[in-house]
Amino acid sequence: MNSKISGLGHALPARIVENRELEDVVETSDQWIRERTGIERRHLSTGETTTDLAAQAGRMALADAGILPEQLDLIVVATMTPDSFMPATACLVQKELGADRAACFDLSAACSGFVYGLSVADSMIRAGTVRRALVIGAETLSRMIDWTDRTTCVIFADGAGAAVLEATEEEGIVRCTLGASGDDENILTTRALPLRNYLIPEGAGREMPGNGYMVMDGQTVFRFSTRVVGDSIRQTLEDTPYGTGDLDWVVPHQANTRIIDYAASRLKMDREKFFVNLKNRGNTSAASIPIALSEMRQEGLLRPGQLVMLTGFGGGLTWGSALVRF
Ligand code: COA
Repeated sequence: MNSKISGLGHALPARIVENRELEDVVETSDQWIRERTGIERRHLSTGETTTDLAAQAGRMALADAGILPEQLDLIVVATMTPDSFMPATACLVQKELGADRAACFDLSAACSGFVYGLSVADSMIRAGTVRRALVIGAETLSRMIDWTDRTTCVIFADGAGAAVLEATEEEGIVRCTLGASGDDENILTTRALPLRNYLIPEGAGREMPGNGYMVMDGQTVFRFSTRVVGDSIRQTLEDTPYGTGDLDWVVPHQANTRIIDYAASRLKMDREKFFVNLKNRGNTSAASIPIALSEMRQEGLLRPGQLVMLTGFGGGLTWGSALVRF
């Protein structure tokens, strides 16, 4: 048994923030942001929660697949900005959708989260554990941004994307590969609550750097990303009948246009095959790949039969790719 993506959806906060607006927030310029990242505008929440966006994207994906919420066996939400530690965002989405039969959990793999989620759901379908799954990448990153830190606040944004996966005899998800390097934990990090309890004297708790805000070593992340996109795509194509020439599209995590340009040239691939919506969306972490897929579907760019490589990379460090026949 294989699994295939049968529905796509996405949701964005209503408020659009242009680069120029950020010139009033930190010492930056529209020109710097465009030239160094490729971003011109992004959507930021003025009240939409991760759950709101995830449920909206999920509803759209279910309608696109033509299935009812009660037909879902599984909901996986990849997020690093949940509305609560407990319950999981997936449970809150289940309630919103009325997907009463679904098992629900969240998954934490930062910007690689959607590809990790797809791989888990695909494995569960192949194993016969579930038949229909909803995989969502959803973030409200604006809540974990230090809005005085110009190196991160111009990059990250809010949004959600979703895919319905269904069991099929046809070719669907061809192969997923995942990886991580915990040794590089400090390159891109957001620490949680400090370790504090009644046994630990005041002030002796293990304070984590960053105070709950994202901290990023941009240049090191940049070097890692440019290397890992090519390596991960090559690894995923190995042991399949396909090569880079067979790919109709590459949908990379939307982090930086320069990272995508570099990856395309390293793979000696036509840059036009890389879908990029970073200009209008910014970096929405786990949501970026499913938002891109849903927008491609809306624009008529993603057609049945096409072979598409999805590649995520980010905090952890983590990375992963999925080769998908649509
Ligand atoms: N506006 C204006 N200047 C800025 C700025 C901003 N928003 N952010 C940083 N700068 C400044 C720096 O302070 C530095 O100034 P200095 O030379 O006076 O010290 C200068 O710009 C160059 O900084 P540098 O870090 O060398 O820039 P860069 O070309 O590496 O670009 C990033 C910075 C963050 C855009 C780039 O490193 C990057 O994209 N990294 C990957 C980030 C990413 O994708 N993360 C998510 C992965 S999932």
